[in-house]
Formats: sequence, C-alpha cells, structure tokens
Amino acid sequence: TQTTLATTLARFKIIPVIQINRVEQAPALARALVDNGLPVAEVTFRSEGAADAIRLMKQACPKLCIGAGTILNGAQAEAALAAGAEFMVAPGLNPTTVKACRSLGVPFIPGINNPSQVEQALELELSLLKFFPAEASGGINMVKSLLAPYQQISLMPTGGLTLENAGDYLTLPRVICCGGTWLTPTRLVDDGAMDLIGQNVRQVVARFAI
Ligand code: 3PG
Repeated sequence: TQTTLATTLARFKIIPVIQINRVEQAPALARALVDNGLPVAEVTFRSEGAADAIRLMKQACPKLCIGAGTILNGAQAEAALAAGAEFMVAPGLNPTTVKACRSLGVPFIPGINNPSQVEQALELELSLLKFFPAEASGGINMVKSLLAPYQQISLMPTGGLTLENAGDYLTLPRVICCGGTWLTPTRLVDDGAMDLIGQNVRQVVARFAI
C-alpha cells in the first residue's frame, strides 16, 4: 500500500531518479547505490531498456528497493512490475494509470502540482504524492501552501532538487523524501562513472544521515 511505501521511502530520504540508456551499466549502478549506503532507485521509463535495467539491478542487488518512474500507462506498469519494480511513479495524475496499478496491486505515486490535482488524488484515495516539477512550480513555498489545507497528504518533491536545496524540503513536515537526478546524472550513468556516482551517494548519505 501507499502507507507501507511511505514508511520505506521516508527512511531513504533521497530517491535517485535514473535514466538508463545502456542496460549493461545496470548491475554496477545498483552496486554503487547499495555499497555506498543508499539502497533505493527510481528507474524511469524514458529509455527502451528500462524494464531490463530494473531486472538486472534487482538480480545484482536483491536488497535494492526499486521503483519505476515516468509510468504513463498500464502497459508500462505491467512491464515494470514483471521486471521487479516495487513501486511506480508518474509525473502527473492519470486516473487510468492509477486504476491499472491498483489492479496490479502495486503502489503508485502520481505527480501533482496544484490543489485541484491534490483533491483528485484524494478522491482516488491516494495521499502519497510526487510534487512535480518542484522548483518550477514554486518550490518550498508551494509545498507549504499545499500541505496546509490538505492535512492528510505526504509529498515527494522532485524536479530541480539538488544537494543544496533538498535539505530545506526535508525539514517540512510530511515531506517524506525528495527525488532527483543530480546524484545519478545520465551522463555519468552512460559513461559508467560509478566511482563518481558512489561519491555523490556517500555525500548524500553523510549530509542527510541516511
Ligand atoms: C523526474 O522525472 O522525477 C525528474 O526528471 C527529476 O528532475 P530533476 O532532473 O530536476 O532531478
């Protein structure tokens, strides 16, 4: 359920959002996250090999908690689940995808960035929401403005987050974790620069006491 997932993600605090273009990098990337103390990843369905990458990461590191990102329809959710993804994330709130994930029995975090979307999510009985794109939608001020009237929601801000600003978001109540690509930029992943990714991960683990 979303509640169990929220508890899990709250422990990690920072969720690396990853686009994997070269699936052969997947096992080493999984190890770079796990070995450096951040055993979680959101692998986006923006590349052809996303499902294969998830499968390979899970094989390399069974303890890695893997989500699938940019899930835009039920077919992607099905492929991600079959590959071993434990949760699904989307940039927006699509009721069709919500229903597809529900019938698959996999927790889904839809994206929202305004009050009407929050109310739509609540109607669909979803309370753990991705606030996306966080910085472009008003950042911390917008998060505070959304949390105030909607006491039942928890947010995962993503989009424009960095090592510098993530801490500010995390001090807010009901911001359970933050997502971002800054730890695992596509360029480094494609190049197999796992040492640099490892450094980024250790920096985050130290900074946020994960
Ligand atoms: C996402 O899909 O969650 C975003 O692309 C992440 O945004 P960022 O690249 O600004 O971290």
